[in-house]
Amino acid sequence: PPISPLSITFDGQTGTMSPEGPVLTRRMSDLAGLFADTAAWEAAVADGDPVVYQVASSPVPEAEGELPQSITTILPGTVAGEFHMTKGHQHPNPQGEIYLGLSGTGGLLLFDGERPQWIDMAPGVIGYIPPGWAHRSVNTGDEPYRFLAVYPGNAGHDYGWVLANGMGHRVYRGEGATPRFEPFTATP
Ligand code: PA5
Ligand code: NI
Repeated sequence: PPISPLSITFDGQTGTMSPEGPVLTRRMSDLAGLFADTAAWEAAVADGDPVVYQVASSPVPEAEGELPQSITTILPGTVAGEFHMTKGHQHPNPQGEIYLGLSGTGGLLLFDGERPQWIDMAPGVIGYIPPGWAHRSVNTGDEPYRFLAVYPGNAGHDYGWVLANGMGHRVYRGEGATPRFEPFTATP
């Protein structure tokens, strides 16, 4: 049955929602094949397999016609200089999505298979993801980066596309606050 109208409160400083649905935790070991430096990634997995990000969802279900929301918290850090990031995905049912920056600083890397695009994200910034663009979030700062996502409930998540095609760029710690971008090359 469809969900009833509801009020959801969230805390942009902690990334929690109330009422809360499922919370997903992605550790370093869940990001296999994504960082360029495989040896550094293996070392991080062996050294405590740290949490890289968490996704707290509201109770709105991923069902056709619904508009689920979630808050992602990406913890700061790098793997051999490559910033902590989400796995990234395409929506197999191509539909748009919006992200709203809540705390910390990061970016939204978008890739349509040919053109990489980057949107700087910070509190108060809306990043718009058009249909057909794969998307990945990156924490480019030294504190947790958080954003709210709102997406069509039947959009789906295709993670294999990003493993096969990459995201166009890799994002590394650069000089000062400016990230350094390198063209994507497949991992060995
Ligand atoms: O809906 C979204 O695009 C986000 O909520 C992401 O799912 C979230 O940031 C986690 O990223 P990923 O699904 O690529 O692991
Ligand atoms: Ni998405």
